[in-house]
Amino acid sequence: MQTLYVELGDRRYPLYIGPGLLGQSELLRPHIPGRQVLVVSNTTVAPLYLDRTRAALAGLRHEAVILPDGERYKTLDTLNEVFTALLNHRLDRNCTLIALGGGVIGDMTGFAAACYQRGVHFIQIPTTLLAQVDSSVGGKTAVNHPLGKNMIGAFYQPRCVLADTDTLTTLPDRELSAGLAEVIKYGLIRDLPFLEWLEANLEALLARDPAALSEAIERSCRNKAEIVVADERETGERALLNLGHTFGHAIETGVGYGEWLHGEAIAAGMIMAAELSARLGWLRKAQVERVRALLTRARLPVAPPPALTPDDFLRLMAVDKKVQDGRLRLILLRDLGRGVIADDMDIAPIRETIKATTRRS
Ligand SMILES: NC(=O)c1ccc[n+]([C@@H]2O[C@H](COP(=O)([O-])OP(=O)(O)OC[C@H]3O[C@@H](n4cnc5c(N)ncnc54)[C@H](O)[C@@H]3O)[C@@H](O)[C@H]2O)c1
Ligand SMILES: [Zn+2]
Repeated sequence: MQTLYVELGDRRYPLYIGPGLLGQSELLRPHIPGRQVLVVSNTTVAPLYLDRTRAALAGLRHEAVILPDGERYKTLDTLNEVFTALLNHRLDRNCTLIALGGGVIGDMTGFAAACYQRGVHFIQIPTTLLAQVDSSVGGKTAVNHPLGKNMIGAFYQPRCVLADTDTLTTLPDRELSAGLAEVIKYGLIRDLPFLEWLEANLEALLARDPAALSEAIERSCRNKAEIVVADERETGERALLNLGHTFGHAIETGVGYGEWLHGEAIAAGMIMAAELSARLGWLRKAQVERVRALLTRARLPVAPPPALTPDDFLRLMAVDKKVQDGRLRLILLRDLGRGVIADDMDIAPIRETIKATTRRS
């Protein structure tokens, strides 16, 4: 097992990464202050991992609420089911919410923990690659609104993150690939050696080689933790994590939540950002092709859906949170391994990039 820390002063918390962690009560128990726990999971993950999770909570009062599965249920309505369960079971202000599932469950449970009685304890047990390398770390929590993704939420850090790599054995191939998109993102924005390591080890990752997966998760979490510590509330550097996300969120919203997986939309979005960077003279064509080749090997889409026109894109991008004071802000690449925040972007090259990348699909 590897233990990393997110060094946030008195809110410092550990990330436990490795196989066979799920049933280990000694990892969880020190992070549960009270005696009451609500595990939040969904109809897919609960049958696989809820029993083992609850076994680690023996001696505590533990309840569970099982939500429907899917991004389309990441809503205030579904969140209300969690609050109803908390109130029905009369859980008090010292209770702990445990998120057992992927990023959808993690984001919703974190937001529920931030809101219930103005804030209760919270633990993440991420079970998708995406959640283990990204969403469970850093304290961003949210639900979607019909008018925009992740628009209702809070910053709220967990007390610990327990990433059991064994849970990835049941993950569908498509979800594994979607997680790899966020892994590749770290290489692109700030870690060229990691990008090279990914190019050398992609087949091992796709084959779910446990050692390769553990290393990819650890190196991703190290990058994420460093960024979060430097800029918890995204006033600067943390925005780099949004590489591909402004385009990607437009794709997710444009085709309807749940049609494209988050990581798939981000992969297409990262290619669009790379193409735009090349258009601005920051990346060479060969570097864009190198990114495209890696994403393709990871079985990810490298072009936006043809159904979305440039006008659709620009309209959808204007509601993205990354718009600041009405000016479009994008994360682009100055070089491979070097993301930059580009403020006040001209619309013309963005429109050209959307047209050119869509034509390739
Ligand atoms: N908070 C953040 O910083 C942050 C960062 C990135 C993404 N996100 C959010 O994360 C969400 C995407 O997360 P995701 O990709 O994990 O999707 P997800 O939570 O929908 O999980 C994907 C699918 O895999 C299933 N699943 C989960 N674990 C499994 C397992 N071990 N075996 C078999 N099936 C399993 C789920 O039930 C679901 O059907 C999006 O809502 C996105 O906005 C948040
Ligand atoms: Zn993401």
